[in-house]
Amino acid sequence: MTSVLETSPVCTDIPALLPVVGADTLVPLVDGSSAVYANLDCAASAPALQSVADRIAEVLPLYASVHRGAGYLSQVSTALYESARSTVAAFVGARADDVAIITRNTTDSLNLLAGVVPGPVLVLDVEHHANLLPWVHAARARHRTTILPVAATVAATLDALRAELAANEYALVTVTGASNVTGEALPLGDVVAAAHQAGARVAVDGAQLVPHRGFSLAATGADYVAFSGHKTYAPFGAGALVGRWDWLDAGTPYLAGGGAVRDVRPDRTLWQPAPARHEAGSPNVLGAVALAEACQTLVALPAGELTAHEESLRSRLVAGLEALPGVRVLRVWPDSVDPVGVVSFTVADLDPGLVAAVLSAEHGIGVRDGRFCAHPLLAHLSASDGAVRASVGVGTTSEAVDRLVTALDRLLVDGPAAEYTVVDGCWTVADDPRPLLDVPGLDHLAATAAAACGPAV
Ligand code: ALA
Repeated sequence: MTSVLETSPVCTDIPALLPVVGADTLVPLVDGSSAVYANLDCAASAPALQSVADRIAEVLPLYASVHRGAGYLSQVSTALYESARSTVAAFVGARADDVAIITRNTTDSLNLLAGVVPGPVLVLDVEHHANLLPWVHAARARHRTTILPVAATVAATLDALRAELAANEYALVTVTGASNVTGEALPLGDVVAAAHQAGARVAVDGAQLVPHRGFSLAATGADYVAFSGHKTYAPFGAGALVGRWDWLDAGTPYLAGGGAVRDVRPDRTLWQPAPARHEAGSPNVLGAVALAEACQTLVALPAGELTAHEESLRSRLVAGLEALPGVRVLRVWPDSVDPVGVVSFTVADLDPGLVAAVLSAEHGIGVRDGRFCAHPLLAHLSASDGAVRASVGVGTTSEAVDRLVTALDRLLVDGPAAEYTVVDGCWTVADDPRPLLDVPGLDHLAATAAAACGPAV
């Protein structure tokens, strides 16, 4: 049988935009060979930039306590931490009176904001759980939260948003900067204009936008942005919440503990102003330094290169997928523009978990499958049984994209080459012959193959 790819036009190779750690890592395949890992799961966690790894190696010998020590290296570490905060703030276009709080990740940032929001919140039903559950479960305990269903088009969704803002009072509208399922978003300028006209502020879940397009609070007029280091090529445990100072300065401290207080007596506590107010416990200096280095590396790219790289990979991916019979690429709106390099799809009647297992075991390709921590959106897209997601980043090449499309074509034409079984809800290779990588700490993977995939959520 002839595959559709045999008639496809030949495209020019697209190299990686920036060096990332592990770009040449080999993974074992079920046929006994090995392949360079094709990491098409950057939306979940992106590999570290080489510049980030180099910076961490440079500062690790200088590491000491932050904000707590008179020792020379404590002062050095404190300076590195505060400098990183300034770099991160500048990277997202913070205004002079904005504050940058170093958090663990986007989820942490949005939970923090939910704890200080002083009034009702409006959120759409297409959000990642990180930008849904904090408003439903934390903010709603004190204020009304409305979850607005998206309409069939961007234009109709904006109309519905404006109508809701006219009908009811809100303190905050919180929206994704780019969906972690489809890469799409509402035009932020329109959301900001509508919200501000109604007296509401705007928070942006920047997890999938900031690393792939850059972002500016000052230029967009948005009031808050949250993002994650591990999706911004700096997987050292830090993220950030940046935005308007007043709510963050007045709100209940996110964590109670040392570093967040000025004076404690048995009968009362005096809290620090923001950002220290929300950073109790020893700060993650290495995480903050890593994130700042990633920001500096991305901002140093020539204007437009980041967007051009990811747009060309996304176009090639979508064109390849849409040429395959039975593959459905998921989209929220037909009229959305400029989606980032995150593409989810279903493959005929194949279980997404099986497709992901085949891509890994037979082709060395890493994708995510499941419902991507966005269950309401998957239901809206008629994909409640899950989908497969491929996502690109600065280290991605066209070879990885082409390998994915070729692998799917082969799967659709010939079926899986190995035998697969479901163990504890996870698709895995039956009697998996692949040797473990020669590094310590893989005993859990050896003990149970199913443990390697985890639940597809
Ligand atoms: N939020 C991450 C994702 O979408 C983990 O995969």
